[in-house]
Amino acid sequence: MCGIVGYLGPKPAYPILIDGLKRLEYRGYDSAGVATLETDGELRIEKKQGKVANLESHIGANLPQGTVGIGHTRWATHGPPSDVNAHPHAGGKGRIAVIHNGIIENYEALRGLLTHRGHDLVSETDTEVLAHFIEEVQTSTGLDLPDAVRTALKEVIGAYALVVLDQTQPDRLIAARKSSPLVIGVGQDNEFFVGSDATPIVAHTKNVVYLEDEEVATMTRSGELTIRTISDAAVTPAIQAIELEIASLEKAGYDHFMLKEIFEQPKSIRDSIRGRVRLQSGEVHMSGIDDHWDVWSKAQRILILGCGTSWHAGLVAEYLFEGLARIPVEVEYASEFRYRNPIVRNSDVVIAISQSGETADTLAAIRLAKEHGAHVFGVCNVVGSSIARETHAGAYTHAGPEIGVASTKAFTAQVAVLTVMAMHLGKRLGTLDDATFMRLMTGLDNIPGLVQKVLNNAAPVEHIAEKFARAENALYLGRGFQFPVALEGALKLKEISYIHAEGYPAAEMKHGPIALIDEAMPVVFIATQDEVYEKVVSNIQEVKARGGQILAVVTEGDTKVRSLVDHVVEIPKVHNALAPLLTVVPMQLLSYHIALMRGCNVDQPRNLAKSVTVE
Ligand code: AGP
Repeated sequence: MCGIVGYLGPKPAYPILIDGLKRLEYRGYDSAGVATLETDGELRIEKKQGKVANLESHIGANLPQGTVGIGHTRWATHGPPSDVNAHPHAGGKGRIAVIHNGIIENYEALRGLLTHRGHDLVSETDTEVLAHFIEEVQTSTGLDLPDAVRTALKEVIGAYALVVLDQTQPDRLIAARKSSPLVIGVGQDNEFFVGSDATPIVAHTKNVVYLEDEEVATMTRSGELTIRTISDAAVTPAIQAIELEIASLEKAGYDHFMLKEIFEQPKSIRDSIRGRVRLQSGEVHMSGIDDHWDVWSKAQRILILGCGTSWHAGLVAEYLFEGLARIPVEVEYASEFRYRNPIVRNSDVVIAISQSGETADTLAAIRLAKEHGAHVFGVCNVVGSSIARETHAGAYTHAGPEIGVASTKAFTAQVAVLTVMAMHLGKRLGTLDDATFMRLMTGLDNIPGLVQKVLNNAAPVEHIAEKFARAENALYLGRGFQFPVALEGALKLKEISYIHAEGYPAAEMKHGPIALIDEAMPVVFIATQDEVYEKVVSNIQEVKARGGQILAVVTEGDTKVRSLVDHVVEIPKVHNALAPLLTVVPMQLLSYHIALMRGCNVDQPRNLAKSVTVE
């Protein structure tokens, strides 16, 4: 949700902070700021509404000189985007500076206490309350900074990833987390780096420590890293080596991360099945399932939890698991599941799907499921993410870092992994016959090449985008496996072009949405040749009879739909269960081109952030 960076070491902090903020800007871009301890001891805070570039312009040539500092890119929760609400926030005496990602739920009560004690808060944020509260605890108790932070956090209700800089202590940096992610990079030469995730750190060191909930880390200029819980228990830092490559965080010649990630899909899908699908031996390997076969073999229900695009991947998985493994599946929005007092049995297997592995609603939902005794399996893209670390087992999607806020390659990687899981379950449970298993195995192995073929033939999509770019609304329709793809296509369009788009089961259109059809309403049908093709053709005729502009994604060689609609994009013929991996690609490109034609920021759409780590 917000991006957090910190540095303590021998080098000038500002360039490291700014570079880190640019790499984290996809997490939030309403405002940006830095705080450094200058060589003369001044606590210098510079912050500005807007993107990091605005902050740099604001700072100009008068660059901060300190060798310890913190930086923040904000996705506004409390208080609109503004200079005064931007982080870092200082305590009342202007001696400490705090940056924070999360929500302090009892900030109003704390604010009242602080105001009563004479504190004058100038912003609308919960973070400024936190800064004043830490300072108040320090002043009233005389505690050393780490102890004051721990004491203060005991009174805090909510989620936080925070870093505290104290003007009186230029040789220390304090970091703490609860529910919001925080990573510490352990560099050479007594250097420490702090990040919301590893992306601002990996250019400097591959050695990281993932802070756990309610842990407070103290970093010193002499190279000491001490971690204690807020209840003051000692924790041994677990240093891990990460495999992230800095090149994977660059645009590599593409105009936007989103376009790069769309075109990376042949590789990311191949990487997501590599080592799991062994065509020669006709075997599938899913250690995350095999190591817990006692649970999976008795599963009476699969509960799939996720948000946004990940929830759409879960809907595809519902068709996969019920079709191939004949296990009842329920797909739930994690945000609904966690609050509705759900019935979860210990015979349930829960699959949590999350690209970032940090989505607060999904993390809370799996914690609830675990409390009810369910086995939880994670499908995540970020190694070492909170959800990946809190599930009983899992499978990484290996799609590589996804920087574009609109999820693309993560979706197809999720669907590919879920397909392999369903095939594996069906094979082991005996619900999937060998012939179909091998057909799916071969088909899946061919998918990366077929995605490449769709990408190579995607030029018409840009021309079609020109026809739709001025639309104010759009309808996406599909049946069966293509219904979740219709939802995903609609989400892509609305989140980056700001056109209101709805995905619907094609059959459902006549129960209401058909009233929306007129010449101004683009309708996108996914009409691949499968068991329900003729039904979709009927739906197309219903829309055509009412003058709707129709784009159809069809199977190569289709002539029937082609004769009925205004625009066609073809995809190669594949098994119905594998088709979502292909039909989603034109949807992704259509939304990309339309958004560009509307002058939208494709990689950082308004109001959005890449990882929603608050509720
Ligand atoms: C998808 O394009 C959106 N960025 C958003 O819906 C996203 O899928 C959702 O927030 C879930 O994120 P996660 O997969 O990281 O949990």
